[in-house]
Amino acid sequence: MCGIIGVLTDRPAAPLMLDALKRLEYRGYDSAGIATLVNGGLDRRRAAGKIAALEAVLDAHPLAGVSGIGHTRWATHGPPTEANAHPHVAGRVAVVHNGIIENHAALKEVLIAEGVRFDSATDTEVVAHLLDRAIAAGRRPEEAMAAVMPRLRGAFAFVVLIEGEEDLLLAARRASPLAIGLGEGEAFVGSDATAMAPLTRRIIYLEDGDWAVVRRTGTSVFQEDGAPVKRPERVSSISGALIGKGNYRHFMEKEIHDQPEAIAHTLHAVIDPGTGTSTLPSPLDAPNVSKITVLAAGTSYYAGLTARYWFESLAGVPCEVELASEFRDRDAVLPKDGVAIAVSQSGESLDTLMALRHAKALGQKVLALVNVPESTIAREADGVLLTRAGPEFGVASTKAFTAQLTAFCALAVALGEVRGHLPAARVTALREALAALPARAGEVLHDDDRFHPIAQELSRARDVLYLGRGLSYPIALEGALKLKEITYIHAEGYAAGEMKHGPIALIDEHVPVVIVAPSDGWFEKTASNMAEVRARGGRVILLTDPDGAARLGEGADHVVVLPAVDPVVSPILYALPVQILAYLAAVEKGTDADQPRNLAKSVTVE
Ligand code: M6R
Repeated sequence: MCGIIGVLTDRPAAPLMLDALKRLEYRGYDSAGIATLVNGGLDRRRAAGKIAALEAVLDAHPLAGVSGIGHTRWATHGPPTEANAHPHVAGRVAVVHNGIIENHAALKEVLIAEGVRFDSATDTEVVAHLLDRAIAAGRRPEEAMAAVMPRLRGAFAFVVLIEGEEDLLLAARRASPLAIGLGEGEAFVGSDATAMAPLTRRIIYLEDGDWAVVRRTGTSVFQEDGAPVKRPERVSSISGALIGKGNYRHFMEKEIHDQPEAIAHTLHAVIDPGTGTSTLPSPLDAPNVSKITVLAAGTSYYAGLTARYWFESLAGVPCEVELASEFRDRDAVLPKDGVAIAVSQSGESLDTLMALRHAKALGQKVLALVNVPESTIAREADGVLLTRAGPEFGVASTKAFTAQLTAFCALAVALGEVRGHLPAARVTALREALAALPARAGEVLHDDDRFHPIAQELSRARDVLYLGRGLSYPIALEGALKLKEITYIHAEGYAAGEMKHGPIALIDEHVPVVIVAPSDGWFEKTASNMAEVRARGGRVILLTDPDGAARLGEGADHVVVLPAVDPVVSPILYALPVQILAYLAAVEKGTDADQPRNLAKSVTVE
């Protein structure tokens, strides 16, 4: 992953690129750099650490120039040092790159044998050297690009700035996203339209295998084989305004509090608020959908695991949920008339994109459930349903998750209705339960002081277990993921009934166990699992409703009582306390909840 920007303008390039890099920081933030042409020659500034570190370097040593390239990095090859920060320069060529050049080791060997010296441990530097050598051998820049592209393997995007070429950027894309922005006498290249939003809304999305010659007066696009191709210009709807944190300490805190709205808006994407009726998005509207295959990663995968319960029980449709990164590594057997749903907040996760393409190749129609409208996954799917969570900046997904759950639940109810699997009265009751969720979520968020002592206890733990059964099992998994990614505390989510098959050995008085247990059909059994934890001295944090608290509260060290809701929609509400606990534990520990170490918001490498 990494964020890329390139500008050809008549204004100072460095501040424009710095602003774009801040918009791209969700793609990686372990080092950053920019290069410009100053009097035709390459000059660059780089810094290890977040964009703020680069900003400080630029304040101390400003960079002139009106043409340039910039980069924010998420390290794959080589640690996040200044020497490994992009742009990488070889002779006359500077390169910023996202993704992985898979055959970089073989190329490097050849280059070293030819006498080339490398300055970094990155895979990127081979691209700079290959292009520089091709140009030094007398090729024009576009000829050099045409010669080098076939030598590169992997999933990547890169932009090139060349000494002496004030009006030229070369850009290439294979699987990783890259778009060109068209201005009035200006041109831009960026990882996404958001990066370029303050500069232009006129966007050309490069397609897989494309490379482009970008000039202020026009752009030529070529396919992998060098044949020229026309790609349509679109007008992006993405706003150039930078979204702030408001009065919140972190984006994550704000986004947790955005959830009542995110749930309400997403609900309206499936259920018409005026008529109360649903329209199924294509291709889920086909009359004989034989199976649903959900493809996703991370938190989106846990939304998919929850959806499986809903599709099976509410709509009677077989459903499997696949880890996108594993899906292509099996010989999955998918039926005729199957629909795959690619779920992704960013719409850019490369694993999910690759899984989408694989599902298509296996004859499935694909619905994208994404939060970013113009994302690659949205563009490549047969149909799109947008979660309406609004931009999510915190690396830990919160409101996008509950929006995904809301969309899935509403879809399953709609499918259950059209397939005659749900009686009309149950359809109405479930839609009412969904419609009431924003208010219930508001109640949970309003009363968040009670989470502080529990978060303090969690922040001191070395290991934490999360348990849940049935619909609450994916919430246990999500709770553990939230805690570990932003507090670095080891946490595991387990199906409550699975604990006795091994994980119970971990329990002692030092291991807090968070039990997700609304009073649903699984409650009695979860209660037994809680007793097993107590019998071994484990400390229990029980998340339940008034009825559950009355039945079990005395057996727990902490009880968080949530509003009573229809058990079917409970995962959407129970996601909130696990997010709040993780967030407050991170605040207690002093870790960076918005940009935790080693992570990036959008993961565009496999
Ligand atoms: O953008 P996506 O939904 O495709 O992202 C998938 C995962 O990378 C993401 O959910 C990740 O696990 C989050 N950091 C979890 O909070």
